[in-house]
Amino acid sequence: MEKARIRLDYNGMMSENVGKNGITPEELEANRPLYEKAAAAMREKRSMMKWRELPHNQGDTVKEIKRIAEKIRSSCESFVILGIGGSALGPIAVHQALCHLRYNELPREKRSGPRLYVEDNVDPERMSSLLDIIDPSATVFNVITKSGSTSETMSQLLIVSDMLKRTVGEGWTEHIVATTDEKKGNLIKIAGELGLETLCVPDGVGGRFSELSPVGLLCAAVCGIDIDALLDGARFMDELCENGNIFENPAYMSAALEVLAMKKGCNISVMMPYADSLKFMTDWYAQLWAESLGKLADNDGRIVRTGQTPVKAMGVTDQHSQVQLYTEGPFDKTVTFVGVDKYRTEVKIPHAFDHIPNVAFLSGHTLNELIKAEQAATEYAVRKSGHLSKTITLPEVNAFTVGQLLYMLEVQTAFAGELLNINAFDQPGVEEGKNATYALLGKEGFEEKRAELEAETARNSRFVI
Ligand code: PA5
Repeated sequence: MEKARIRLDYNGMMSENVGKNGITPEELEANRPLYEKAAAAMREKRSMMKWRELPHNQGDTVKEIKRIAEKIRSSCESFVILGIGGSALGPIAVHQALCHLRYNELPREKRSGPRLYVEDNVDPERMSSLLDIIDPSATVFNVITKSGSTSETMSQLLIVSDMLKRTVGEGWTEHIVATTDEKKGNLIKIAGELGLETLCVPDGVGGRFSELSPVGLLCAAVCGIDIDALLDGARFMDELCENGNIFENPAYMSAALEVLAMKKGCNISVMMPYADSLKFMTDWYAQLWAESLGKLADNDGRIVRTGQTPVKAMGVTDQHSQVQLYTEGPFDKTVTFVGVDKYRTEVKIPHAFDHIPNVAFLSGHTLNELIKAEQAATEYAVRKSGHLSKTITLPEVNAFTVGQLLYMLEVQTAFAGELLNINAFDQPGVEEGKNATYALLGKEGFEEKRAELEAETARNSRFVI
């Protein structure tokens, strides 16, 4: 595998290319002290950001992951992840990026691992449809919850344990692997009681920063992905991200540009990859960016209500759906295009209707040329319309470049958090909804919250028609 570096092209953010909405070199220069301060804070806080060490300190963990993965690969037809948020989006994104695009439909001999299902919802129809199609005796479930207490994941575990007891009987616990915190939470207790194979999410690695921990690595290894190369790519990016000069650090520069754009009213961040393999990177990034930066108060307790709403788009598909808005709509967004130099395959467009010039011009080209031309054309149209954009290019989608991309976006998010002076690593806004769910389901200690909810429901009935 060629160890090529991913690139950031931010011409589309700069005023000389997009006009008055753009950022000027002088603005970047004027903010230099702020960037230097944030870079210094990143250095100081590095030891607290445990996710930054994942590419460096998992030698034994990787061996253990490979051992468990080999066992699963040789014994099962289906591998099911039970998890949500940061415990699901990374595995989905990396699998989509690095496995065959129609992986589950391939016959086993052509597939690099067992079928993969990531169950990140508690829609009853979805769970029951999964149980309709898998053979429990040939399935391993990886229950992933860092906190060990997430209601969605724990209810899935209860359902699956019950089903395995009934269908597989003796030895059913061999069909579950737990990935959780080493000490905290309920899952580690259950795993101990049942003697489950267990992998630990290191202390200080939050859900949305955990893809390069066992959360993502077991799934990747089970599906035949080269996890050493993934970590190698992240390590390579870490070296680039150690540079405190934003002009030489793609993650810092990308964060600095987004934050400047936010100050100009760009409260929406669109990510638009031109590769189906990167389709679910947008979901992973959406969580990372939204949950990390969407904050009420800053580190000094001031109400800031900050954040940028992530929007997922797909090139070329959404050229026929969203790009109209991105060119003629309000100047409230930035677009991050994600492109690929070399696709893993080439498809020729054959000659057929050469007598119809409006069709014939396509013949002789490849889909590779077409998708790249459409990406370049859309980038041009967005720039010409005065909207802000940048492009991240992967020389090729492989484990090394995907490792770089994941790590770069994580560092970008942390650096943006520093620039905004907020805590990018907590999610207090998620708690209210979690507590309300506990109350509605009758969890002990949430009686008051339940009364509050019931009173609200009664009061609001007049607005239901
Ligand atoms: O980023 C986060 O911390 C969250 O999105 C969590 O990943 C999500 O809530 C699931 O949490 P857990 O892994 O504890 O079940």
